[in-house]
Amino acid sequence: MITGMFYVTTWPSEHPPSKEEIVEMAADCQGLITLLSDTIDADMITNLPNLKVITQYAVGYDNIDVKEATRRGIIVTNTPGVLTETTADLTWSLIMATARRIVEADRYIRKGNWNVAWGPQLLLGADIYDATLGIIGMGRIGKAVARRAQGFNMRVLFHSRSHNESIAALEELVGAQSTSLDTLLRESDIVSLHVPLTSATIHLIGEKELGIMKKGSILVNTSRGQVVDQDALYRALTSGHLGGAGLDVFTEEPIPKDSPLIGLPNVVLVPHIGSASKNTRATMATMCAKNIIAALNGERPPNIVNPEVL
Ligand code: DGY
Repeated sequence: MITGMFYVTTWPSEHPPSKEEIVEMAADCQGLITLLSDTIDADMITNLPNLKVITQYAVGYDNIDVKEATRRGIIVTNTPGVLTETTADLTWSLIMATARRIVEADRYIRKGNWNVAWGPQLLLGADIYDATLGIIGMGRIGKAVARRAQGFNMRVLFHSRSHNESIAALEELVGAQSTSLDTLLRESDIVSLHVPLTSATIHLIGEKELGIMKKGSILVNTSRGQVVDQDALYRALTSGHLGGAGLDVFTEEPIPKDSPLIGLPNVVLVPHIGSASKNTRATMATMCAKNIIAALNGERPPNIVNPEVL
């Protein structure tokens, strides 16, 4: 397709292309628009010698070897900001659905189990109002999640390793208290993850951390699946130590159809839809277009991840 400015080729399937298919299709391309399901590693970058810019249609870019791209002078861009509120909304959907057993309750009716009009013990869940919410990672999305917690009169704790503001300014801004990771895990009724996937955050929440969490508490993950040791999470859920989990992201995506997590009633599972609102996905697409057009025209793209390359 000729767009007026560029010759554009699009991958025609919903299934991600294999590495070989990307190389075959993009061998001559100067710009590449990628999804988080496309692995753009050093090998791939070597096989795309004309590449000037990689434009990620997501805020997270852990699927791209940015170091290698930078070494080769290739610009990498992403879509920060525009999906913050939508992802915070989804986080809250998972918090509420898990705490109040909404999915279980829906299944209960559809399976024809609602035979008694009202029961004092029916589908009891956990209160959200007045509870303690622990937010790990106080970037844009963590802040948006914290802001929503004020409406539920929650005590909000956070643990953040990198932030632009001082801790005092951040505490003031989000109306929350900064703590160590252990304190947050020990004191929170609900723990929500908002860190990028890096070598420092792989399995940030493992056996030990899950063990520190309060009995009956809830874990929500809308960041990246690999931030949690999924096998350890399964054990914590089946032993009764954790009360439930709300998961948008998984170690392997799509989650294997025989994953034991699928059989657990106290887990709410959604297929990586954090940013999936019509408006946000359209805005992300426009942002990608602006980024790639700027880069290919020799201008600074608005959302450059590796500015040192310029
Ligand atoms: C992102 O942008 O990184 C999200 O995971 C996509 O929903």
